[in-house]
Amino acid sequence: MLPVSESPPYSKPKAPDILDRKQSYFTALKPYLSFHHRRTWFFLGIILLQLLLLLSAPSLPFSLSAGPASNPRPSPAVHNLTDNNPTAKEQVSNGGISSNRQINQECPNGKIYVYDLPAIFNAEIVKNCDNLNPWSSRCDALSNWGFGKRATAISRIVPKNVSGAWFWTDQFSLELIYHNRILNYRCRTLEPESAAAFYIPFYTGLAIERSLFTKNSTAEERDRHCKMMLNWVSDQPFFKKSHGWDHFITAGRISWDFRRSKDGEWGSSCIYMPKMRNITRLLIEKNPWDYFDVGVPYPTGFHPSSVADVRIWQDFVRSRQRRILFCFAGATRGFIKNDFRGILLNQCYSEPGSCRVVDCGGSKCANGSSSILETFLDSDFCLQPRGDSFTRRSIFDCMIAGSIPVFFWHRTAYFQYEWFLPGEPGSYSVFIDRNEVKNGTLIKGVLEKISKDKVKRMREKVIEYIPKIIYSNSNQGLEGIKDAFDVAVEGVLSRNKEQEGGYKWK
Ligand SMILES: *[C@@H]1O[C@H](CO)[C@@H](O)[C@H](O)[C@H]1NC(C)=O
Ligand SMILES: *[C@@H]1O[C@H](CO)[C@@H](O)[C@H](O)[C@H]1NC(C)=O
Ligand SMILES: *[C@@H]1O[C@H](CO)[C@@H](O)[C@H](O)[C@H]1NC(C)=O
Ligand SMILES: *[C@@H]1O[C@H](CO)[C@@H](O)[C@H](O)[C@H]1NC(C)=O
Ligand SMILES: *[C@@H]1O[C@H](CO)[C@@H](O)[C@H](O)[C@H]1NC(C)=O
Ligand SMILES: *[C@@H]1O[C@H](CO)[C@@H](O)[C@H](O)[C@H]1NC(C)=O
Repeated sequence: MLPVSESPPYSKPKAPDILDRKQSYFTALKPYLSFHHRRTWFFLGIILLQLLLLLSAPSLPFSLSAGPASNPRPSPAVHNLTDNNPTAKEQVSNGGISSNRQINQECPNGKIYVYDLPAIFNAEIVKNCDNLNPWSSRCDALSNWGFGKRATAISRIVPKNVSGAWFWTDQFSLELIYHNRILNYRCRTLEPESAAAFYIPFYTGLAIERSLFTKNSTAEERDRHCKMMLNWVSDQPFFKKSHGWDHFITAGRISWDFRRSKDGEWGSSCIYMPKMRNITRLLIEKNPWDYFDVGVPYPTGFHPSSVADVRIWQDFVRSRQRRILFCFAGATRGFIKNDFRGILLNQCYSEPGSCRVVDCGGSKCANGSSSILETFLDSDFCLQPRGDSFTRRSIFDCMIAGSIPVFFWHRTAYFQYEWFLPGEPGSYSVFIDRNEVKNGTLIKGVLEKISKDKVKRMREKVIEYIPKIIYSNSNQGLEGIKDAFDVAVEGVLSRNKEQEGGYKWK
C-alpha cells in the first residue's frame, strides 16, 4: 500500500521488462517531442488547462476547511463499504452491485448511467486474480473493492481511533474503487434517456496487466479486451447518438500503457483505437495534451469512513513533530549513470542529519512498509522526482502524511491533477529546476531558506487538500466533504454540461 510507485511493483528488480518499459516510454513520447506536434498541442493544452481550472474553480472553497474541527457534523447514514470484507472473487460476481440505490438529491450537472457490461470486461478479470501477473496472486490487492486488506500493522504509528481507515491498497486498483462508488453514487440514474454521462465499467488496466508482463505476449493479446469493449459500446444507441463524447472509463494505469503505436512496443493501443477517440479516460497519469485524458489521484492506503476520521487524521498530521528536513523514498537499485534520482540520493545520503532515505529496492515496499508512512510523517518535505513515468503514487502518500512535496518536473503534478490540487503551485509545494540540481544546487540549501512561517502555511494547504486526494470508505461518500471520487465524477459531469448541444472540441 505505501509502496513508492516509480516502477511496476510486480516487476522483479532488474527484470528486462523495466528497461523495455523505459525504452518504450521514450518512444511513446517521441511524437510529442517533435516540434510540429509540440507547438500545436502545447498551445491547445494551455487553453484546455485554463478551461479546466475555470471549471474546477467553483468547487474550490470546500466545506472541510470552513467548519471548525470541533464541530463535526453527525455522521451520515453511510454503509461501511468493507464491513463484510469481500474477497476479490466474491465482490463483483455477488453483485456488490446494488442496483436500486438512487437517492433523490440535487444533481445540477445531471446524472450518470452505468452500463451493465458483460462480465468478461470486469468481474471475470478480477476472478482471475491468481493469474493476473506472472509473479504473485493479486487476489489480496483486489479484495475489498480495490482497498485491499486492512493494514493492522500500521496502528503502531497512527492514532488508534483512526487506524481502521488504513488498508494495504494497491496503486493500480482505481478501476474497482470507482466502479463500486459509482454504482452507489447519488447521481446515478437507471434510465439512460435521462443521463448526462455514461460510465463504462471496463477494467482497462487490469485487463492488460497479464500481457504487459508476459514477455511473449502479442499485440493482439494486449488489445483484445479493449477492442471487444469498444465494439460492444459503439453498438449502444446512446453511444451512437453522441459519438461517445459523453462516455467515460477509468484506467488504473498510466496513459502511456495504452498508447502503443507499433506492435513490438510496450503496452496496448487502447487509447489510439479510433472508437476511443471521444471517450473520456480517468487515469492515474494523463497525457496533458489530450483533452480526453483526465488525471486523478493514485489510490493510497487511507480510506476514512467518516468525517470524524478525516478530522482526526488532519489534526494528527498537523501537530506531528517533524524531525527531518526532507526525505526520499524510492528504489535505490539499478540506477543508470546520471539518473536524476541518483543525484538526489547522493545528496540525501551525504546529509544524514537533514535527509532520510527509504530504500524501496526489490519488493521491500510492495506490500506497504509502514516505514514509508513514518518517514513522511517525520519530514517537512519529500522529494518527488519523476521515475519511469512522470508521476508516482508517492506524491499522494507524502501529502496525506502532511509532508510538502518537492517537484522537479511540472508534469509530475501541476499539469496532471488540476482538479484536485491547489491552483497556485507555490502554495503547497516547492519546485526546483532539475537542471539547477544537476548544476550543483543543493536541495538542503533551497529548503533551509524557506521560513518556518512559510513552511507552516504550505503544510496547512497540503492538509486542507487531503480530502480531495483520498478515496473514502463509504459508498455514499462523506457528508459535506468532496473526496477524489466526487471531484472526478462531478468534473466529468460539468465538462459534459459545457458540451451540451454538441461536441465542440476541434
Ligand atoms: C466501518 O467498519 C469498521 C471496522 O469494521 C468500524 O470500526 C467502523 O466504525 C465502521 N464505520 C461505520 C461508519 O460504520
Ligand atoms: C483520537 O486519538 C488521538 C490520539 O490518540 C486524540 O488526540 C484524539 O482526541 C482522538 N480523537 C477522538 C475524536 O477521539
Ligand atoms: C508464452 O510463453 C509461455 C511460457 O513460456 C507459454 O506457456 C505460452 O504459451 C507462450 N505464449 C505464446 C503466445 O507464445
Ligand atoms: C468523435 O466526435 C466527432 C465530433 O462529433 C465525430 O465527428 C467523430 O465521428 C467521433 N468519433 C467517433 C469514433 O465516434
Ligand atoms: C509481504 O507479504 C507477504 C505475503 O503476504 C509476507 O510473507 C511478507 O512478510 C510481507 N512483507 C512485509 C515487508 O510485510
Ligand atoms: C548550468 O550550468 C551551465 C554551465 O555553467 C549553464 O550554461 C546553465 O545555464 C546552467 N543551468 C542552470 C539551469 O542553471
